Amino acid sequence: MSEPDRPAGGAPADSVDWDALYAASEQVWSGDPNGQLVAEITDVPPGTAVDVGCGEGADGIWLARRGWRVTAFDVSSTALARASRHVADAGVTVHLVHAGLLDPALAGARFDLVNAQYAALLHEQGRSLAALLGLVAPGGTLLLVHHVLEADDGHRAFDPADYVMPPDVHAALDDGWDVQVYEQRPRHVTAGAGAGHTVDLVLRATRRPAVR
Ligand SMILES: C[S@@+](CC[C@H](N)C(=O)[O-])C[C@H]1O[C@@H](n2cnc3c(N)ncnc32)[C@H](O)[C@@H]1O
Repeated sequence: MSEPDRPAGGAPADSVDWDALYAASEQVWSGDPNGQLVAEITDVPPGTAVDVGCGEGADGIWLARRGWRVTAFDVSSTALARASRHVADAGVTVHLVHAGLLDPALAGARFDLVNAQYAALLHEQGRSLAALLGLVAPGGTLLLVHHVLEADDGHRAFDPADYVMPPDVHAALDDGWDVQVYEQRPRHVTAGAGAGHTVDLVLRATRRPAVR
């Protein structure tokens, strides 16, 4: 059997690592919805949405407030417990699931919007990329955002080659997809653990509806 993918430089690899990262502070991320989610999805009519690697839950709450029926999942039970409190405080409904992207519980699920913001998805021999795309319903939208680490002037917490990044997904999109956005954008976040990152790479693509 081949070895599982492991990230370089001690970056978090599994639920144990992520739980430890979350447990190290009361709040890791800013608590605000991610800027590219707000920029891209504000004008999209609500449907079903999934937040991949939802962390402390801010994006799911923002979507639920706008009428989306939201499922949000993460490998970290510590992050999910925090997300659950934030969801309750916000008075919205988000279906929180303790699962990794490759969990059989998610197999076959399809959503109108798949939101993956800085989701740290190891390649797992190509299975993560396939599973991510598989979550998008016909006619649905994938919004995938990640840091451009080359722009981060010494702030290199992990090696992008270890993870499913927008260029990997962009290269895998065939003629069953329309790409609306694939570009770098400046990122303005001053609070939380991601504050050192200054440039986003944004991929927004729609799966073409099935032809009958
Ligand atoms: C950098 S954080 C981003 C959290 C959130 N999306 C945000 O923007 O605040 C990456 C998240 O991915 C989660 N994660 C890592 N591997 C995962 C996997 N295979 N499936 C689901 N979530 C995963 C981690 O637990 C962590 O919460």
